[in-house]
Amino acid sequence: MTWRPVGLTRDVPAGRVMRAWVDGQDAVVWRSTRGVLSAWDNRCPHRGMALSHGFVRGEDLACLYHGWHYGAEGGVCSLIPSHPDLTPPDTIKTRAFQSAESDGVIWVRLEGSPDLAPPAIAPGLDPLRSFEIRAREGDIAHGAAAKPFEPAILSLLFNPIAHDRTLVTVLIDAQATSDQRKLASRWCEDVRREVEA
Ligand code: FES
Repeated sequence: MTWRPVGLTRDVPAGRVMRAWVDGQDAVVWRSTRGVLSAWDNRCPHRGMALSHGFVRGEDLACLYHGWHYGAEGGVCSLIPSHPDLTPPDTIKTRAFQSAESDGVIWVRLEGSPDLAPPAIAPGLDPLRSFEIRAREGDIAHGAAAKPFEPAILSLLFNPIAHDRTLVTVLIDAQATSDQRKLASRWCEDVRREVEA
């Protein structure tokens, strides 16, 4: 399985929960209070509620529905609020995926050798933003190539999240000025408008 870029490190600070898509899999990506990043199946093992609606409680993610807690280390259920004295069996756990961070980008993959790190981004580039476009990767690449951005080097990473939707992560020359970054952000919106039109 391939590592997929699902967002920027700065968009998922401690205590934040985010929904992501990885090779057609609905996933929840979240960061505990101490900073542990996790990526799981976006489905509560209890009754199937989307865990991306849940809340971070210290080192646990709590489901919105009945409040069951799942621990950042391994996704095992750590608390069932309606039975607070019960130690939940280890078999109640979320389905965990591999997650990693590299140069400010969060990567997730569904399976594969834990030794294989996510791809490093090219030296000298910084993550600029991550956003969704209602189009396929090929159409976005074509639209971006037809509208060259002159002020600074840009590079795009793609994560196909549905047959007609793609998450685009934009990297920019680390030396780019704040004005160039603003221009690049506008360029992203222009490309999106034109590709989606
Ligand atoms: S569905 Fe998540 S705690 Fe019940």
